[in-house]
Amino acid sequence: MPDIERLVRPHLRKVATYAGVDPSDELARQAGIRPEDVIRLNANENPFGAPDEVLHAIKDIPLHLYPDPDQRKVRAALSEYTGQPVERVMAGAGGDEIIDLLMRLFLEPGDRCLDCDPTFGMYSFCARLAAAEVVSVPRGDGWEVDVAAVKKAVTPGTKLLFLASPNNPTGNSVPEKDARALLDTGLVLAIDETYFEFSGTSLAHLTAEYKNLVVIRSFSKWAGIAGLRIGYMIGSEEMVRHLMDIKQPYNINVVAEAAAIVALKNRKHLLARAHALVGQRKRLETELKKMQGVTFFPSDGNFLLCKFSRRSAREAYEGLAQQGIFVRYFSHPRLQESLRISAGTPEQTDRLIAALHKVT
Ligand SMILES: Cc1ncc(COP(=O)(O)O)c(C=O)c1O
Repeated sequence: MPDIERLVRPHLRKVATYAGVDPSDELARQAGIRPEDVIRLNANENPFGAPDEVLHAIKDIPLHLYPDPDQRKVRAALSEYTGQPVERVMAGAGGDEIIDLLMRLFLEPGDRCLDCDPTFGMYSFCARLAAAEVVSVPRGDGWEVDVAAVKKAVTPGTKLLFLASPNNPTGNSVPEKDARALLDTGLVLAIDETYFEFSGTSLAHLTAEYKNLVVIRSFSKWAGIAGLRIGYMIGSEEMVRHLMDIKQPYNINVVAEAAAIVALKNRKHLLARAHALVGQRKRLETELKKMQGVTFFPSDGNFLLCKFSRRSAREAYEGLAQQGIFVRYFSHPRLQESLRISAGTPEQTDRLIAALHKVT
């Protein structure tokens, strides 16, 4: 039998698979409970679901036709929403695709890509696929970006720096002065604002000033359409032109494209739901302050990084899972005692608070 192993590119022979979230029926099977009893607070999804307006609008989409490779309608809608010219926005199949495209555009094998850990794992995953050297510069004790250490890590082969703002999983945002200091190094800085609609703060205005800045956004969280895979970026005209040139022609499927446009039309309603999730996060914070054995880090997102002191995070995770509540557990050495908990509906928060009392 012919062996393909020797034909696989050496750096991809043993790549660490990205561990995404399991579907609810699989979570239920693992915990020995019914799928309908699963509460998913492990992926920062929108627990209110896809909005009715979107569900209604996507019914009649002609699925036999290819989507527009130039993304004319969705880019026009994004331009209106962001206040940026249409030439400076582009849509991707989730923020994830934008991350991957940036790696393809800038990284040659052996080039260096920086992130500041702990952070979203997609940056290092995609950089490794591009055969780049990934350097993760540790964050400080309050999870702030260590600007001096990042600058030190910049070598002639360093091309890209990814910073999530708010950062997943720590919840803190990047101050403008830090972004400016890092942009001044000349690196391409990708500020990932996937949680922008929860934080309400953005560095997108800096894209007019810095050609080396890319802002990444998503419809997965605030708009409740993670399953459709649509996100976008804001950057200089030059950056957008390059990304448009290398993307797959039909990267945004017709359903996602229509859903994003409808979501933007109904943004008032969707932003109110995002606001309600921030309210549930704050309610959880208030309850956690009353509990022993658990603390949390301040968050600008729709999630909280919680630190357990009486029981191990693993025990707390399992205790919650037995009660049907799934949260995010980490193998990162600095997050061994921590779990990330997404904001849920008011009913889910009720159940979460009751369950937390049993596991702290
Ligand atoms: C910081 C960050 N960036 C990007 C993504 C991916 O977003 P999308 O669903 O748009 O690919 C996530 C998802 O959890 C995230 O936390």
